[in-house]
Amino acid sequence: MNYSLESYIDIINKALSEKLYKVNDGQDYIRDAMSYSLENGGKRIRPVLTLEFCRACGGNVEDAVNFACAVEMIHTYSLIHDDLPCMDNDDFRRGKPSCHKNFGEEYALLAGDGLLTLAFETALGENNSVKPENIIKAVRSLAELAGISGMVGGQVLDLQSEGKEPSLPKLQTIDRLKTGALIKASVLLGCYAANVDDKAVIDAALKYAECIGVAFQIVDDILDVTSDSLTLGKPVGSDIKNDKITYVSFMGIENAKKEVGRLTDEAINALAVFNEDTAFLKDFALKLSNRNK
Ligand code: IPE
Ligand code: IPE
Ligand code: MG
Ligand code: MG
Ligand code: MG
Repeated sequence: MNYSLESYIDIINKALSEKLYKVNDGQDYIRDAMSYSLENGGKRIRPVLTLEFCRACGGNVEDAVNFACAVEMIHTYSLIHDDLPCMDNDDFRRGKPSCHKNFGEEYALLAGDGLLTLAFETALGENNSVKPENIIKAVRSLAELAGISGMVGGQVLDLQSEGKEPSLPKLQTIDRLKTGALIKASVLLGCYAANVDDKAVIDAALKYAECIGVAFQIVDDILDVTSDSLTLGKPVGSDIKNDKITYVSFMGIENAKKEVGRLTDEAINALAVFNEDTAFLKDFALKLSNRNK
C-alpha cells in the first residue's frame, strides 16, 4: 500500500500526541513545554522518511511508528537547545516564540532533556513484528547518530567554526554531522523496522540520507538569507548574526543551489537497488531541494 505525505504526517502527529500524554505523573509544566515545541507544526521530514523507508523495504508502516516518533522527539529537542541564548540565540521557532522565550531557559533545557529521553523510551516500546535484534540495532544507531559522533558532534563543530575561515571539507563535515546524521538515523530506523538485513539496501538508504541531509542543510542556509521569518516560522539572518560558516558564505547562493541539485541527483540515483516503488522518495528529495520553508 502507498501512502501520501499528508497521511504519514497525520499518523506521526497522532502518535506523538499519544506518547506525550501517556505518562501521567503530574509534571504538567514540563510536559506543556515539551508539547509546545513538539506538537507545533514542524515539517516532520525525518519521521516521514522512517515510515516511507519501512514501506519501501517491504515492511508494515505501523511497525515503524515508534521509531519515527523517536527521531522527531530528538530533532525537536535539538531545535529547543539550538535556539538557547548560549547557542544560536533565536527567539522564534515553528511560528511561535522559542521554547525558552515562553517557558524560561531552565525549562527549555529540561524540555529538551525530557524529549531526548522520551525518544529512547518510545523507540523501545512495543514494536509489533520488529525482531528484538533489530530494535537493539536501531536504538544503538539512534544513540550513535544523535550523539557526539553524530548530531551533537556536528553542533560542537558548528559552534567552534563561528568566525573562522570556511573550507569545503569543514562545511561538509559540519553538515554531515549536525543535520545529515539524524536524517541517516531516520532512514536506517525505517529499514530496521522492516527487518532489512541486505547490506546493499542499507548502504543505498544511507547514501540517499547522506545526500539529502547535506542538501537539506544547504537549503536551510540559503533560506536563512533569501526567505522571511513569517514563511520560515523562525528568524532569518541567524547565520550572519552568529558569524557561522555556511555553503552560502563560502561559495555564494548560486553555487550553493548547484550543490543542492548535484546532491539531490546523487540521492535519487542511490535508490536504484530498491525492489519496491521509490517514486515517493524521488519526489520527496526533489521537493526538499525546492522547498521554500
Ligand atoms: C531545522 O530542521 C534544523 C535543521 C537541521 C536545518 P527542519 O527544517 O526540519 O525544522 P522543522 O522540523 O520543520 O521545524
Ligand atoms: C541546526 O542548524 C542543526 C541542528 C542540529 C538543530 P541551524 O542552527 O541552521 O538550524 P535552524 O536554522 O536554527 O533551524
Ligand atoms: Mg545552529
Ligand atoms: Mg539555529
Ligand atoms: Mg539554519
